[in-house]
Amino acid sequence: MRLVIRIGGSVLGSPPKPQLVESYCSTILSLVAKGNKIGLVVGGGKLAREFIHIAKKLNLSREKQDTIAIEISRVNAKLFSMKLGIDLVPRNINSMISNLETKGIGVMGGLKPGITTDTVAAILSSKWKADLLIKCSDQSGIYSADPKVHSNAKKLDMITYEELTKLVGEEHRPGIHTIVDPIAVRYLKRQRLKMVVVDGYDPTNLIKVVEGKKIGTTVY
Ligand code: UTP
Repeated sequence: MRLVIRIGGSVLGSPPKPQLVESYCSTILSLVAKGNKIGLVVGGGKLAREFIHIAKKLNLSREKQDTIAIEISRVNAKLFSMKLGIDLVPRNINSMISNLETKGIGVMGGLKPGITTDTVAAILSSKWKADLLIKCSDQSGIYSADPKVHSNAKKLDMITYEELTKLVGEEHRPGIHTIVDPIAVRYLKRQRLKMVVVDGYDPTNLIKVVEGKKIGTTVY
């Protein structure tokens, strides 16, 4: 199976928790050993948002605020690439795909201003023709409203891209923090790619999804 896995920077911690990175890497390598090809996309998390804040205070443009955050996600990606034994972080989708074709595994961070790594994962999924996108989130799935704000929000087992569009809105801004970035939702909706959003604090959830267990939220 061609899998794109997107790990939220907010899940990894700031700085990333070594045990979690280690556990993700061993889970990913075990999936590769079973014949899966894996494209990993890693976010920048709290540190990226702190740099956005600093860039804003310095009156730097939105594009520059995004650019500095992208570099942070690439540092996180570099950590994964070293632990996974690939030691390379492509800066564009084409070189990511050539890595995937030759090695069956690749890891990257951000791509360009104006998006988030959700959209990087969506673009990669589309160009590489992935079978499935798994988003490892700081929530256990998609809720009817933000559960951090609304205590009565309900977790949804399944949701359509149309319904998700209504939940997340349509616009990007630096440091945006919705369950899935609105631009990625638009992209994935066009591709009709299946995405599963799972609790990212437990890397073994990746195995459960690949084995077809019903966890998190499936978006279709
Ligand atoms: P990330 O995609 O790195 O966020 O985008 P994250 O920390 O993993 O998010 P969670 O865990 O899902 O919440 C952080 C910010 O970096 C810029 C954007 O400003 C984005 O909001 N960014 C990131 C880009 O502009 N382009 C990219 O390709 C990636």
